[in-house]
Amino acid sequence: METILVTGAAGFIASHLSEALLEKGHKVIGIDNLHPYYDIKQKEANLEILKKYPNFTFYKADLRYLEELKEVFSKHKFDRIAHIGGNGGVRASLEDPEYYQETIVGGTTHLLRLGNEQEVKNFVFASSSSVYGNRKTVPFKETDNVDNPVSPYAACKKAAELMGYAWHYLYGLNVTCLRFFTVYGPRGRPDMAPFKFVKRISEGTPVIRYGDGSSQRDYTYIADVVKGIVAALERPLGYEIINLGNNKPIALNDFIKTIEEITGKKAIIKEEPMPKADVPITYADISKAKELLDFEPVTQIREGMAKFWEWFK
Ligand SMILES: NC(=O)c1ccc[n+]([C@@H]2O[C@H](COP(=O)([O-])OP(=O)(O)OC[C@H]3O[C@@H](n4cnc5c(N)ncnc54)[C@H](O)[C@@H]3O)[C@@H](O)[C@H]2O)c1
Repeated sequence: METILVTGAAGFIASHLSEALLEKGHKVIGIDNLHPYYDIKQKEANLEILKKYPNFTFYKADLRYLEELKEVFSKHKFDRIAHIGGNGGVRASLEDPEYYQETIVGGTTHLLRLGNEQEVKNFVFASSSSVYGNRKTVPFKETDNVDNPVSPYAACKKAAELMGYAWHYLYGLNVTCLRFFTVYGPRGRPDMAPFKFVKRISEGTPVIRYGDGSSQRDYTYIADVVKGIVAALERPLGYEIINLGNNKPIALNDFIKTIEEITGKKAIIKEEPMPKADVPITYADISKAKELLDFEPVTQIREGMAKFWEWFK
């Protein structure tokens, strides 16, 4: 049994990850500041699931404040760190760029420092496909140049990846940065397309479609992503950046059609221009994840969205 720190434990991805680690018999220490970016009732419900496990301990702590994190580190000796916390939301990062900078860059720096002091075996960081910006060449490869982020969120994720490299270079800390591609599934985020579209289509209220519906996203099912994170945690690799995507981008119009079929309701579409910080396509090359993590996404969009709909209902 190992002791694993999971940041953002009340959130969508980290709550699923925590559950998987607890099921494997590990001790999980979860931290989260329960940020009201979306309904905190959903976050509290996630925590209720985790609190049923005797090996789960939760601290309300904010990644921005070193002292709060030091307090947690003074109580536990961690074997590994899964640093998943921090709000997603490309558009929200335009409204409050400081929050994103302080949480993603500042918070990651604090955790690298504290984790290194405790000589953790491995540090896994949740990065994002957003770092690829407006790339037209697909699929996105980890070796692609990512010097042109189109949102503060993306710029911060890249900066945090670089901070991880510095800790690896200076102290030999094992750091793996996982670039997630539009993760969806039960307990998914209310600000993301799968949730918003299912909600509005099933209620019969208009859905806002940015652009003509040709934009594409490489939707990746939560259980597949969790398997990838667990594999990354178990395998210290020096310093690596690895895409965790599904490798099958879906056009927004096809995505809407899938939801219409699953819910049995027709979408009322209201078109608005594509926000400047949104990218036209995300598409992961996952050969590196296959090679280093034996990553093999198995859930395709119809099956994944049907599972989401079951949860949503
Ligand atoms: N969901 C996706 O499609 C996706 C894609 C790419 C990257 N990511 C990244 O994966 C991670 C998890 O995403 P998610 O979809 O589960 O989001 P989420 O919002 O459900 O979870 C993030 C959690 O972090 C917490 N948090 C925010 N600011 C914090 C702070 N300052 N201190 C402590 N906790 C804080 C929030 O309260 C939340 O519970 C995020 O870092 C996100 O950027 C997600």
